[in-house]
This record gives sequence, C-alpha cells and structure tokens, in this order.
Amino acid sequence: MPEPEPFALAYQDSCSGPTVLFIHGFPLNSSLWEPQMEDLNDTARLLAPDLRGYGLSPAGEGPYSMEMLAGDCLDLLDTLGVQPPIVLCGHSMGGYIAFEFLRRFPKVVAGLVLVATRAAADTPETRENRDRMVEQVREEGPAALSAAMLPKLMAPENYENDDKLVAFVREMIDSASVNGIAGALEAMKERPDSTPLLPEIDVPTLVIHGEEDAIVPLAEAEGMCEAIPDAEMVVIPNAGHLPNLEGALQFNEALWDYLETLKEEKEQR
Ligand code: MLT
Repeated sequence: MPEPEPFALAYQDSCSGPTVLFIHGFPLNSSLWEPQMEDLNDTARLLAPDLRGYGLSPAGEGPYSMEMLAGDCLDLLDTLGVQPPIVLCGHSMGGYIAFEFLRRFPKVVAGLVLVATRAAADTPETRENRDRMVEQVREEGPAALSAAMLPKLMAPENYENDDKLVAFVREMIDSASVNGIAGALEAMKERPDSTPLLPEIDVPTLVIHGEEDAIVPLAEAEGMCEAIPDAEMVVIPNAGHLPNLEGALQFNEALWDYLETLKEEKEQR
C-alpha cells in the first residue's frame, strides 16, 4: 500500500514579512516598543516580550545571566512555533542579550538591529555602581531608580519639555519588580565583552543611536558599527538613550527601510 500523503492546510497570514524580536533595555518593558508595534506591523511580524521581572512577566529566582535571558527569548520563539531565522532588535541591555543570543544560536538570526547599545563589558566603576544600585533598590524600591535614571535616559530638551514621554518611561521603571531589577543588574555586571564577536557578525546589521545619548556615547556606537562587516548606522537627532521613542518617526523609517531591503535580498537569493 502506498503511504498516504501527509495532510496540511494551506493558509493565509496577515503578514508574510520576517519576524522581528524586540528585546527591551533596562529597567523597561515591552511597552518601550509601542511606536514600532503600531507602525511597522504590516512589514514584519513583531514580537516584544517582557523580560523576566518586567512588565507582566514573573521575576522567577535570581540571579539572572545573559545566557538565561537569551534562552528565555529562544523559548518564546519555540513556544510560538516561529520559523527561524528572525531579526533581533535589542535596545541597550537588549543589545547585550542579542549578542549572547547570536553567540549561542547563530542559525536563528537573519538580521540584527542594535539600538543605543555597546559591545564592551562593564568597567570596574560601573560594576561597583551596579552593586550600589541593587542595595538602593532593595531598600527604597524602583522609584529610587526612576529618579536617578530618567534625566539620563532622554535628551535634555525632551526630559524638560515632554511630560508625556517622561511619565510613560517613569511608569515602565516604577512597575518593574525589585528582583527583576537586581537580576538584570547582576546579569549586566557579569556579561562578557562582545567586542571580539563584532567582526564575526555575518548578518546585515543596523545600528540606531540617539545623537545625545548620555548612557552610551555616540562615538562608542560608531566604533561598534565600524567593526561589524555588513553594518549601517542611523543617528537620530534630538534623541538620547531612547531613540525609538524620542524620534519614533525617523526610527521607524530606518527600520522599515532595513526590513524591506532584507526582504528584497531574500527574494533575490
Ligand atoms: C539599558 O538602557 O539597558 C542600561 O542602561 C544599560 C546599562 O546599564 O549598561
């Protein structure tokens, strides 16, 4: 008897574009990507998890590590049955996680978007500051962190004049769990230097950075971009460490162009 043909339904999908996994920075949550989720959903399938301890995700047990956070992202893709490869878009700490993801699961990644991030590991001074921050947040709660971080997260003009933006970001930070904050600080402190990875990145990469980023200086991101073989840089004016919120229009335009080029290149192969 011949084997019966395997049966599978044909189907229509609302979006035939690539999947983009957005990984938020510290100490934020998936709401960070609101302007992208609203505007880019017809060019790609967009997934934006809350990392453990942030937004609606449980904190679990600490300490966290970059391996653990990258593993969480892969588990999400597996749970949703997402077909690799995908595009990874990491903001700041999300970029550190993206580097770890790329080291561990290179075949899953077809493209990389690095937003307001750096490749270098922590300096000894930064490591000490992280320990102090853990103590302070355990004693005073996340509001201590929002008070310290908010002025550094945005370009000064946006911090002074854009009350809506400031309230939006404050809400993200204040809703983070203490264990999530401590866990992420520990993971960032122990993360490896990703500089040696840069020349080996073999997927098209887009680096997006705010001109006035006070947390990761623009020059550092430029150096990172130059070290990646197939990378382009887009600088968002009048933006600090949150270019996808502060300059959402330009950010979305750059990401849209990048995703469309990626699709065209795939079709030509
Ligand atoms: C972030 O925005 O994710 C953090 O500020 C990064 C860091 O502290 O190194």
